[in-house]
Amino acid sequence: MKRVGFVGWRGMVGSVLMQRMRDERDFDQIDEPVFFTTSQVGEAGPDIGKSIPALKDAQDINELKQMDAIISCQGGDYTKDVFPRLRAAGWKGYWIDAASSLRMDADSLIVLDPVNLNVVQDGLSRGVKNFIGGNCTVSLMLMGLGGLFKAGQIEWLTSMTYQAASGGGARHMRELISQMGIIHGSVADQLHPSSAILDVDRKVAETLRSGQMPTDNFGVPLAGGLIPWIDSPLDNGQTREEWKGFAETNKILGLSDRPIPIDGTCVRIGAMRCHSQAFTIKLKQDIPLDEIEGMIADANDWVKLVPNDRELTMSELTPAKVTGTLSVPVGRVRKMNLGGEYLNAFSVGDQLLWGAAEPLRRMLRILMA
Ligand code: HSE
Repeated sequence: MKRVGFVGWRGMVGSVLMQRMRDERDFDQIDEPVFFTTSQVGEAGPDIGKSIPALKDAQDINELKQMDAIISCQGGDYTKDVFPRLRAAGWKGYWIDAASSLRMDADSLIVLDPVNLNVVQDGLSRGVKNFIGGNCTVSLMLMGLGGLFKAGQIEWLTSMTYQAASGGGARHMRELISQMGIIHGSVADQLHPSSAILDVDRKVAETLRSGQMPTDNFGVPLAGGLIPWIDSPLDNGQTREEWKGFAETNKILGLSDRPIPIDGTCVRIGAMRCHSQAFTIKLKQDIPLDEIEGMIADANDWVKLVPNDRELTMSELTPAKVTGTLSVPVGRVRKMNLGGEYLNAFSVGDQLLWGAAEPLRRMLRILMA
C-alpha cells in the first residue's frame, strides 16, 4: 500500500490504533503514511519510527484524494461532511472508518476479520471500498461467541450488557473517576470498621442526589449505580445501541436476508474500558456442554474459555483482568433451567481494542497483503 492517510489519530481510539500499529510494525508496510489534522496544519506528525511529511489539512479534498487508503477515527460528523465530497470528487481509494455513519450503507462492509474474513474477501473481490468498524458491543460479542455463530447453532440470543465509560468517550472516563472521588470524599472519614454503615450509606445517597456531582457527560451520576440507557431512542422502544446488536451482527455475518433474532438491554456501568455482556442463547438443538465449549474456544486466537468455576471466574472474567489486552474471555457457560437448548454465557472485552481500533488496523493489513 503506497499512501495511507490517517485522520483522528490523536483522539482516544486513534491513539490506541497508533499504539497497536507501532507494536505490530504496521508502518513498515506503508510507503508513505500521511497524517491529517483539523487544527494543526503544518505541524510535525507523530513519531512512528520513520520520517513523515508535516500535518496536512483534513478538510483538503485534493490532499485526501492523493491517498490510496484513508483510515478515520475522527468521528461521524467528519465522515458525514468529508466522505461524500471526497467520493464526489472521484476518489476511488479505500475508506476505513471507526464511526458508525456509513456502517449500514449497502456499499459498506463492517469489518471483523477473525469472524467475517470471507465476507470481507468477497467484498474486496466485488470492488467494495468502504470498510467500517462495528459497534463495540457487537464486535466483542462476535469475538466471544463466533464459534457458535459459525457452527450455525444459534436460533436466537439476548445480550444484557455492562458497558464501560470509554464507550461514551474520554470525557466520560474522567467524569466517572471524578464522581467516584466525590462519593469517597463525602464519607472518607467514616470508613473505619466501627462506623455506622447506614449513616455512611445515607451520606452517599445524599451525595448522589445532591446535584453536586459532575454530570455534564453522563447526565446523571454513574458511579455508585448504573444507567440502563445508551444512545438515542428508536420508535420501537429499543435504544439505538440495542438495535445495533441485531442489525450489525447480521450484516457482519452476511445474514441480513435471513437474520438471527438478537435483542437485549444495554446498560452503562462504572467500568473504565471493558464492556461485559451476559448472554441467553437459544440453541437449535441440545448440544453437550463440552462440545459447546470446544466450539467457543476454537473460534479464534483471542477468545479464551474460562471454566465455570468461582475462583477462575473471579480472576479471569473481569474488566480488571482484561483491560488493555486483546483477550476476550467467555465464561459462566452452562445449560439453563429453561431447558437443554438454553445456554448461559458471559464475556468481557476491551472496547477500545477489539471494540474499536483492532478491526480497523487488521483491515489495513488485509489491504496491504
Ligand atoms: N456505543 C458504544 C458505547 C461505543 O456507548 O459503549 C461505541 O461502539
